Amino acid sequence: MELSKDKKVIVERGNKVVYDCGDTVVKVFNTHKPAADIFNEALNLARAKQAGIDVPEIVEVGKVDGAWAISTEKVEGKTMRQIGDEDPSVREDLLDQFVQLQLDIHAHRSPLMSRQKDKYSRMINAASEVLGDSIRYELLMRLDGMKNHVKICHGDFVPSNVIVRPDGSLCVCDWAHATQGNGAADCAISYLHFRMRGADEFAENYLNAYCKAQGCTKEYVQNWLSIVAAAELSRGRVVEKDFLLQWVDVVDFE
Ligand SMILES: Nc1ncnc2c1ncn2[C@@H]1O[C@H](COP(=O)(O)OP(=O)(O)OP(=O)(O)O)[C@@H](O)[C@H]1O
Ligand SMILES: [Mg+2]
Repeated sequence: MELSKDKKVIVERGNKVVYDCGDTVVKVFNTHKPAADIFNEALNLARAKQAGIDVPEIVEVGKVDGAWAISTEKVEGKTMRQIGDEDPSVREDLLDQFVQLQLDIHAHRSPLMSRQKDKYSRMINAASEVLGDSIRYELLMRLDGMKNHVKICHGDFVPSNVIVRPDGSLCVCDWAHATQGNGAADCAISYLHFRMRGADEFAENYLNAYCKAQGCTKEYVQNWLSIVAAAELSRGRVVEKDFLLQWVDVVDFE
């Protein structure tokens, strides 16, 4: 795949660069990223689309100078993160829309999407360097006992992954972590994301808004925190390690 000469970098991270190429947005991964991860992300995007969710249209999966890349049609607008950063007074309204959108995604189904429990148990097992055998065993037992659901869960539902078009409609990008499973686990991940960024008050407001709109208790979501924190540890991100370990420790292992 050829990238346009006047491309602009949207974000640059350790393992990828996302470019604005005019009509398309191209996510170029580093050469260590397994091809299966790229195709999995593209497949999740295609499945979310097929399920009826408003997501960017896939244009191409290919290679840019030997590195795998996913090209999607550019969605005009700003992310909820940008809008909230530019004008904090709109954050409350955004929060309601954000929660409604997450619940709307959960109302969709995709029978072929990976199962959340399978994914989290793989991830918890992969965190063996930081979590001892007995803790992993307890967490896996706890995960096994969680209620089974088949809701589409984005898996990284954060304001930077929601694009607000000029007409106000919402488009959700970044489907690398999507599964079908329990919406409360998806909420727990979003909650941890806000806490990790130090937005503690916003995190509580988000949790309250989610539970009110979904009609569940906070405890129902909080039961997932240790599991999702343990699963996230498997990504091996050094900066997040101590933060995530605190959330695993919160569990009362009996
Ligand atoms: N199709 C698109 N149209 C417009 N903007 C996009 C599109 N895809 C991505 N973006 C923008 O690029 C940013 C980064 O893309 P994306 O969220 O897919 O990558 P990422 O956050 O680096 O991935 P990850 O969360 O897996 O680390 C988004 O926050 C959004 O601003
Ligand atoms: Mg993102």
